[in-house]
Amino acid sequence: MDAVQDPIIPVIGDLIRQVPGTISLGQGVVHYGPPGAALEAARAALADPATHSYQSEAGLPALLERVGAKLRRDNGIDVAAGRRIMITAGANMAFMHAILAITEPGDEIVLPVPFYFNHDMAIQMAGCRIVTVPTDDRYQLRLDAIHRAISDHTRAIVTVSPNNPSGAVFSEASLHEVNTLCRERGLYHLTDEVYEYFTYGSARHVSPGSFANAAAHTISMYSLSKAYGFAGWRIGYMVYPEHLAVPIMKSQDTILVCPPVISQIAAAAALDVGRAYCEPHVRELAAIRDSVLAELSTLAPLARVGGADGAFYCLLTVNTRMNPLALAERLIREHRVAVVPAFAFGMTDRCAFRVAYGALQKETVAEGVGRLVNGLRDILEAT
Ligand SMILES: Cc1ncc(COP(=O)(O)O)c(C=O)c1O
Repeated sequence: MDAVQDPIIPVIGDLIRQVPGTISLGQGVVHYGPPGAALEAARAALADPATHSYQSEAGLPALLERVGAKLRRDNGIDVAAGRRIMITAGANMAFMHAILAITEPGDEIVLPVPFYFNHDMAIQMAGCRIVTVPTDDRYQLRLDAIHRAISDHTRAIVTVSPNNPSGAVFSEASLHEVNTLCRERGLYHLTDEVYEYFTYGSARHVSPGSFANAAAHTISMYSLSKAYGFAGWRIGYMVYPEHLAVPIMKSQDTILVCPPVISQIAAAAALDVGRAYCEPHVRELAAIRDSVLAELSTLAPLARVGGADGAFYCLLTVNTRMNPLALAERLIREHRVAVVPAFAFGMTDRCAFRVAYGALQKETVAEGVGRLVNGLRDILEAT
């Protein structure tokens, strides 16, 4: 555990608590809650004794059926063909199951940078090694670098699209290349798609699990946390090749026993409402994103904001030698705005920050970004 990075969000959270009135552009959550129908279903389930006991490990049949239909409809993934679904307590747990199921201690997992910090942490906790590879200047995958990173110890390549923290939506061609490379080299493709519905402009999300011949080596991970405002209910799921059923079941049985029953009942009702639930929110976020990017672009050449076509994040690279955590702390203490230093996402070669705009109302985001822009000008122009 000593080798595992400290989670950055509580560090920033601590600073925020010390400075009342701070606007947090740090949190990776949405500002809305679950659909009413999900809450109704949970309320009704309280009276049923079955809600309060252990249920089947992989998930309630009613939820598994809805997830299967959703995967066919929204992701082009046919679960009948040599695959299984496991309902988990969020996509983070799905990732941990996947790593435990496919690795031996000492194995290597390829992570394009920026990576999602909990992936790094899970890999380290399993006694494995991360092998990081750079992305290009728009945070798109670099296949040449990925090829070079593969060794005899590599077990998997991870892609997160739409990406946390960059907001990049990887091109279909590059995801297809990664998936094919994994098949040819006997690796797994771990694909985190928790932001699948959050794309803007002409960007389109593609599920690598839908590619031909992907079933036997692709592990796809999803979540209700973002699309359905479900973060606290802890429901995600994974689609994985049948031959991993035993190790994944062992991990589920040990860590979770079964997914929280009441959350699964709420999740089934949320999936009945479907993708339409988050679409108005995504349209709203698209407008917020446009104004955030426009405002942050005014910082050039002091800072550069990268291509962010999805999720609800962008990365701001600041042209300074200042320590990113020290700069983040000054932004909170002196300008009451919080962002997350990007070293937590593996970007240790520059001073960059993740700006998150999903958790707040439009006016608050505008105020927060205004403080960020003024704060950076103020601090950087004085140095
Ligand atoms: C890329 C990515 N994967 C997984 C998660 C965690 O999702 P869950 O709440 O389903 O565990 C997050 C949350 O921020 C995320 O950004």
